[in-house]
Formats: sequence, structure tokens, C-alpha cells
Amino acid sequence: MPVDSSRLEGFYKLSVSERREKLAEIAGLTPEQVEAWSSSGELSEDAADRMIENVVGTYSLPIGIATNFVIDGEHYLIPFVLEEPSVVAAASNMAKRCHAKGGFTSNNDEPVMIGQIQIVGCEDPEAARGSIMAAKAELVDSCNEVDPILVKFGGGCRDIRARIIETESGPMVIVHILVDCRDAMGANAVNTMAETIAPKVEEITGGTVILRIISNLAVHRLARVSAVFTPAEMVNSGDVGQGSDVIDGVLQAYHFAKADPFRATTHNKGIMNAISPIAIACGQDWRAIESGAHSFAAHERTYGSLTHWEKDSEGNLVGSIELPMAVGLVGGAVRVHPAAQANVALLGISSANGLAKVMAAAGLAQNLGALRALATVGIQAGHMKLHVRNMAVTAGAEGEEVDIVAARMRAHDGRITQKAVEEELAKLRSE
Ligand code: MEV
Repeated sequence: MPVDSSRLEGFYKLSVSERREKLAEIAGLTPEQVEAWSSSGELSEDAADRMIENVVGTYSLPIGIATNFVIDGEHYLIPFVLEEPSVVAAASNMAKRCHAKGGFTSNNDEPVMIGQIQIVGCEDPEAARGSIMAAKAELVDSCNEVDPILVKFGGGCRDIRARIIETESGPMVIVHILVDCRDAMGANAVNTMAETIAPKVEEITGGTVILRIISNLAVHRLARVSAVFTPAEMVNSGDVGQGSDVIDGVLQAYHFAKADPFRATTHNKGIMNAISPIAIACGQDWRAIESGAHSFAAHERTYGSLTHWEKDSEGNLVGSIELPMAVGLVGGAVRVHPAAQANVALLGISSANGLAKVMAAAGLAQNLGALRALATVGIQAGHMKLHVRNMAVTAGAEGEEVDIVAARMRAHDGRITQKAVEEELAKLRSE
């Protein structure tokens, strides 16, 4: 179950261990799950050694919790694993700004992945394609015999498609098996099905099968999330500008991304600033998600924005996001990584669909955070205020000096530069 409230007022003021205790209390986590977040409970060397080859150690990154997310009427606290300051703060800040209209709403596809089978050397590619289509029912059955457990859980092969592509090696018949993977990401199920039916596909077509592999352009497994932001929510108390001006600025920023791939790439990077860190936090294959997202941004169009922004008749800002979301809770790293298990427990989700909507909602919020900042004060003001703690450490600050120097720098009127941070540290030490 998701938590009762995603509003964690004053959370940032607690120490790291106090934050863990607070989350354990509100999300009902076990002592093992809480321990998994601490450096002593993280991925053991033995577990790491079983995950990949030639292991020499593990590599840590911070886990930060984004607050204020209400999705389909339920509250979520969302774990991010990343190195970049101000991302978690921006997502939490933007998530709060759609509460007046009920938060985020999802409308995801069923979890259907594509497996590709490449056939070469067909004498008559069109006839080969026709024979595949004629044998569709038989091929679907053959796929489903491979994975009776998936079928038992309501998944399995749903459809078979075939097309001909012209390539430098000549024409190829490309078969797509469409597989409902339920709560699995699906790579294993789909690849096994594709490999198993390959001999039958050769028999039917008279061609030779070469590649049998999942496609990460998961156009049948799209996550879709939308939210409405009122003009009043787009400004802070004390801001001089109007909410409607901020909305107009966000729309101009979005139109820039829509019209220009150079900008769209950075715009989408900002969206992935939320999606990839949640994928990592929850033990997902983030490279599959990244490649699917960027490919979808160029699917049947010039590379463009993964989000859509417009103004409704009442002047509210309406945002939506649509992108492939190949995630799973069955199998993969989430099964063996203790911190990933703790992160999924914090989310309170039990389905791949639940994770997909959380990731899409966070991507939408993150995009708004960037567009709102870029269209108003610029990105550096907020970024540098949070980055200043790293700068204090770089300057040599230790222990409580880090927070004192950071606080003083944040109160500064001037630009936050490394030199200014060093001077502030020297001043503190001379007091
Ligand atoms: C920085 O990590 C992300 C942004 O560049 C995204 C954007 O420009 O929209 C701020």
C-alpha cells in the first residue's frame, strides 16, 4: 500500500538516520529494509559477485526521497538514486503544485513487449510474410507453451505481426511477437519465446532466422500520466510575477523543445533525471528504459519532447507524458538487491504498472521543474544553492563546517563561486 501522506514537512531538516526512522514508521518498513538503506546493510560483496562478472567491489550513490506525489488519488514517497543536486527537491516541489486539481492521473497500456525475429534468405519475402500470418494461431500457441507460468498469471503471447524491410543485406522478413509480460520487465520471457519458435518460423518461411531478441522500443507498453497545475500553484508567496506569466513561459519553453531537437534532447534529459534514478533505485534495467524513451521521442516523427504542455480554457497548465516503460517487479536485480527491495517497499507498489506510473509522474514533474526554472530565474540559482554543500566539501570543509559554509553562501547576494566558498570557509575558521 502507498503511504497515507506524501507531505513530509521538515523532512530535510532531519539527520539521515532520523529520516530512515521516519520513513520506517510511516511506510511500515521492516528493520531489514531500513538497514538496507544504511551503508552497513547495502549490497554485500557476495551478492554483487553473483550479479555480474569479474566483480571488484560495489559503487554507492545517494538515495533521496521525493515527496508530495499524489497519483490516481494515492500518496507516494519516491526513491531516487543519483548524484545531481536539486533534482529531488525540484520533483517534490512540482509534485505539490498539482494538488488543487487532484494530483497526477495515469492511463497506462497493458505490459506488452515486442520480440523480434529476423528472417533472411526468403525466396519470396511477401509469400513468407503471408505464411507467417496464416500460421499466427499456431505460433502464438508455441510461444505460450514456452512459459506456462506467465500464462497462468494472465500474460503470454497476444499477437504475431510480420513486415518486410529493405536493408543493405537485401530484403528481410521481420516478425514481431507481442507478449504480455504482466509484472516482469519481460526480456527473458520474450527472448526465450523468440528463440524457441525460430525453427518453426524457418520451416514456415523457408528462410533463415538470425536475430531473436526483444525490442526496447516498447510502443505497446506506454506509460501515460497527466496533471493540471493552476496559475496560483505556479508561483510562490512573495513572487512578483503572475502565475499566468509563468505558465506562458513554460509553454514557450515547451514549444522550443517541440520545434528543435537540440533543445528537445536536453528537455528529455531533464525528464530522464527522474525516470532513470527511480529505475536504478528499484533495480530496473535503466539502459533499456533510456533507449526506449529516446527512440520513442523520434518514433514516426522528428526527435521531440516526451511531454506535452498546453493551457486549458480556465488558464490552467495541463501537462502529460507518454513513453515506453519496460519495468518489472518479478526477476532481475530487484529480487536480489536489498536497497532496491526497500525502495519498492517504500513505494508500496506490487505491480509493474504501479512502478511505471510513478516513474512517468516523476518525469512529468521533473520536466515542469526544469521548464519553470528555465523560463523564470534560470536553472543555476536553485542548482547552485543545493550544489554549494559539494563546493564546501571541495574547499576542504569538514563536519559541521559544511552546513555552516553552505548556509552562509545561500544567504549571499553575490554569485556562488568556488573561490567565494573557499573565502567563506577561511573566514569561518578565523572566527
Ligand atoms: C539538467 O540536469 C537538466 C536540464 O538541463 C533540463 C532542461 O534543460 O530542461 C535543466
